[in-house]
Amino acid sequence: MSEKTLTEEYVSKFSEKTPKSREIWLKLRKLTPYGVHSNWRVFEPHPLMLQKAKGSRVWDVDGNEYIDYTMAFGALVVGHANPVLLEKVKQKMDEGTIYGYETELSCKLSEVVTRRYGFDMVRFSNTGSEGTLLAIRLARVATGRSKILKFEGHYHGSHELLMVGVKPDLKHAGHPKKPRSVPTGFPYHVVPKELAENVVVAPWNDAEAIEEIMKVHGNDIAAIIMEPVAMNMGVVPAKKDFMVFLRKIANEYNSLLIFDEVKTSGMWYRGAQEYFGVKPDIMVAAKAIGGGFPFAAVLASKELLELVGPRKVPHGGTFNANPLSVYAAYVTLTELLTESNLAYTHKLSEELAKGYRDIIEDKGFEAHVVQVANKGTIYFSREEINTWRDFVLKVKWGPWYVWTLGMVIRGIIPQAMAYDEQWTISIMHTRDDIQKTLEVANIVAAEMKGRATEAIAIEESI
Ligand SMILES: Cc1ncc(COP(=O)(O)O)c(C=O)c1O
Repeated sequence: MSEKTLTEEYVSKFSEKTPKSREIWLKLRKLTPYGVHSNWRVFEPHPLMLQKAKGSRVWDVDGNEYIDYTMAFGALVVGHANPVLLEKVKQKMDEGTIYGYETELSCKLSEVVTRRYGFDMVRFSNTGSEGTLLAIRLARVATGRSKILKFEGHYHGSHELLMVGVKPDLKHAGHPKKPRSVPTGFPYHVVPKELAENVVVAPWNDAEAIEEIMKVHGNDIAAIIMEPVAMNMGVVPAKKDFMVFLRKIANEYNSLLIFDEVKTSGMWYRGAQEYFGVKPDIMVAAKAIGGGFPFAAVLASKELLELVGPRKVPHGGTFNANPLSVYAAYVTLTELLTESNLAYTHKLSEELAKGYRDIIEDKGFEAHVVQVANKGTIYFSREEINTWRDFVLKVKWGPWYVWTLGMVIRGIIPQAMAYDEQWTISIMHTRDDIQKTLEVANIVAAEMKGRATEAIAIEESI
């Protein structure tokens, strides 16, 4: 009889440890596609079903405890069930959950947010997708142009305007310096051709290619939108001079620069502008700034944001600036995501990255770690990853899968459970968590060394 591979061994252990998760998932699968209400949660052999969470920990329905680095895909830099936040929000709930009116607190929060990020005005909504949608709309109206330049591999939410060149299959993606505008879901007709044609896709971190693309399309480009640190392909920060170049070329062609900071706004006190020294025309902040409540903010100059209004640029939302999200964001930004608390998350993140690097070196793995602020990931490749093509062609996800399972069966969720994600360190993680994580990582690495780490087939989720 042939010996089990390490992958098979870990899959069996995972299944043995999580039977109730599987049972619920099998039921749910009959009621919703793939048994998940967001495509990003698909995981083989089945996703975990969670029951409760506190601080850096989550518990699944089988009673297993995990140190969690998913942190709700980056939405929880405050940590799970942060006691300061929960206590206040619980009290607030007694005053009602939603009014359909503005509040004094939405005024106070607007002041806090505009001051913190250095913009004149702001509009609130609930999700990152809603935020990027408004940003694009604003850019089109402000410039009178239709086209948007976005980067291959960058994700800006689940709406048709930007679901182009997100995770394209390289079979269809064209030349690396001049990528085709491949709509998400292609060849399914998800994004109408006319919408896809308005999205010009460019390679990340390649100034030369963008200069050429702008020569052709620049005068039609309403905005250049980006994730300043691309985090739907691991962690790929813009090179600092590339960011300076983007600001310059946007100015040159009178195009607007949009920072999609749905993930990065939880990394630094003032967001990506603090790290890159470059200020966008429009900033979209979401996820972490709501402290785990649905909240997004679009920030810009008065001139730009005053385009929004009745019979002008549409922007509405029943749940926009609802009192619970607003209060949660207010407490999060004024008491929790402070400069010193964020510095603490950076420190722990550095320690985790260093520990992982030592293990990789010790075991001679073909891997490297990229860490920026409170985010990071292990790439199973020795080569530097600068673009989506690098990510697809150079990174092996088989070892990533085995690594993840090996960690999860021992009580560590090392990052959001998809190979294009990253870890998030919250203000409630501790040095002890990092130490425990590295102890487990050492055990998994020792098991992986010398064993085949081929991946089982996983269905394309997106
Ligand atoms: C960079 C970026 N932009 C936009 C979004 C969409 O945000 P939401 O899922 O809140 O709609 C995401 C979600 O992960 C994201 O990572």
